[in-house]
Amino acid sequence: MDKNNNFRDCLSTLKKQNNLRCIATDSSEYALDLSSNDYLGLSSDVRLYDDFLKELQQNRFPFSASSSRLLLKNAQGHHNLEQLLASCYNAEACLIFNSGYQCNVGVISALASKNDLILADKFVHASCMDGALLSKATLKRYQHLNYEHLEQLLERYRKEYENVFIITESIFSMDGDRADLEKLVALKNQYKAFLYVDEAHAVGVRGRNGLGCLEEVGLIDQVDFIVGAFGKALASVGGFIVCSALIKSFLINHARSFMYSTALPPVNIAWTHFVVERLSDFKIRRLTLENTSREFSNLIGVKTQSNIIPYIVGSNSHAMELASNLKKEGFNVLPIRTPTVPENTARLRFSLAANHSIKNLLPIKNILIKYENKMVK
Ligand SMILES: Cc1ncc(COP(=O)(O)O)c(C=O)c1O
Repeated sequence: MDKNNNFRDCLSTLKKQNNLRCIATDSSEYALDLSSNDYLGLSSDVRLYDDFLKELQQNRFPFSASSSRLLLKNAQGHHNLEQLLASCYNAEACLIFNSGYQCNVGVISALASKNDLILADKFVHASCMDGALLSKATLKRYQHLNYEHLEQLLERYRKEYENVFIITESIFSMDGDRADLEKLVALKNQYKAFLYVDEAHAVGVRGRNGLGCLEEVGLIDQVDFIVGAFGKALASVGGFIVCSALIKSFLINHARSFMYSTALPPVNIAWTHFVVERLSDFKIRRLTLENTSREFSNLIGVKTQSNIIPYIVGSNSHAMELASNLKKEGFNVLPIRTPTVPENTARLRFSLAANHSIKNLLPIKNILIKYENKMVK
């Protein structure tokens, strides 16, 4: 028997379900890339990049940390960035991880233990789920944005557990909808739970100074754990958690993805620092993005609460076909398929950025209409 048969069978099943993922190799230029998380358009901002390069010439930042943070000798850059972020959020502490994924996996698995309960929104990111599954805690999921359901679970189970962690995203990555953060804060206070908010898609984009949705609603100081990612609007790489000094110290000793992985390269930390320092200057970009997102969602008839606009088509094959039609016309849009999203809700995820203009997005409407007409026939 060929010992690779199982793997082969799995792949051919995925292929039959129109669900086989491949790493893109074509480097075609698109008129518009609507698949990236570069929400502020910073990664293609030549001036910003040149300014940073000038700064680089004055300092020799290594291209590798060459060890984990626990052993890193020249960690001043990491430390400075953590201090900068902590002061932006007016918090005691911040801890940087190598990615948003590593942050969620490391933090949740470290904090939640045997006698604890994790209550997670059904649509939280895979990294939160993986962290919860790695922990020894009991995991229950409440229906997406359904806070009555969450409250029922709190009412029923709170007493049975030592600590309860409510986990949500602020802007949900695949649906672009927004958690009711006021409601979540009220529930966490009422039931003496911890609230964990992943702001990966909101940092840079939301709030007066780009700190995220919690800044927008004035609740930063009410939340126990705020997580952000550098790899999206900030055009860098890495993740961070804003928390108390006590929790930071606990994580340095228990979060395995922090302890046992080479730290981010100092040169990259310098770039992130450079961008974070300028975060409050990007107000016009945030406003432009908000306006374009509203106009585009009206244009295609999809309600949205953010710059992530899902156009739901149903099956995986329909999502693939429509993405391919758009690609032929020069629009690169990601088809999002099951199991990333629930069955029969495969979609195109239009990810808008501050450097997109509604004028350039207009042709999409006709492509969608043409596709819908073909489907009806
Ligand atoms: C909500 C959310 N959290 C965390 C992550 C992981 O962040 P990173 O890409 O930095 O690993 C993602 C990535 O897509 C995300 O959507």
